[in-house]
Amino acid sequence: MKKNPYLIAPSILSANFARLGEEVEAVMAAGADLIHFDVMDNHYVPNLTIGPLVLESLRKSGITHTMDVHLMVKPVDRLIGDFLKAGADIISVHPESTEHLHRTLCSIREGGARAGLVFNPATPVGVLEEVIHLVDLVLVMSVNPGFGGQSFITESLRKVEQARTLIDRSGRDIRLEIDGGIKASNITSAARAGADTFVAGSAIYGAKDYAAAIRELRAALAAA
Ligand code: DX5
Ligand code: ZN
Repeated sequence: MKKNPYLIAPSILSANFARLGEEVEAVMAAGADLIHFDVMDNHYVPNLTIGPLVLESLRKSGITHTMDVHLMVKPVDRLIGDFLKAGADIISVHPESTEHLHRTLCSIREGGARAGLVFNPATPVGVLEEVIHLVDLVLVMSVNPGFGGQSFITESLRKVEQARTLIDRSGRDIRLEIDGGIKASNITSAARAGADTFVAGSAIYGAKDYAAAIRELRAALAAA
């Protein structure tokens, strides 16, 4: 069950956007594994964040770290090409954000990125079975998408367990990421439920010492 090493993905939603490049380098230097890039459109979710231009600027400034782009936009398809061009490594979409999920996942993979499928707290995981051959990452939301700093929804652990069962049954190399309210106090239970990749926004960027915050998360994971 735990064949993949645990990965920590700071969400730049809680970073200081006035100096985003430095904030990205700072968490990577502090021991993070990849960067979680939250894109919100004030339509699919009630908040507005950053788009492909910002990712492109980070790439142009020389940042080569893995960019895990979480698209909370509807309709999602038109933006996928822009994010591929901007340098996304992983692009994750919500099934509710597209009329034709199969086509959307294909377009991400054909563009050379890894494809992620995201489940909100009230979205059943069943659709994963239909498209699992097109998926490289499953993202379980442990808050309702839209804002950083929300409280962890404990029931989402059941969905992590369900996704873990489907992934293991598929035999495919699929990461299982959890996103929302992750802290040292709940990351152990998320790992026990089967998650191997952990998004943390406020728990890392809200701390004074990013390296200490990441060490604390890893220490909690070591107990899983
Ligand atoms: C929520 C975003 C998350 C969130 C994580 O819509 O997808 O990535 O910002 O932030 P924390 O860890 O503060 O809940
Ligand atoms: Zn996210």
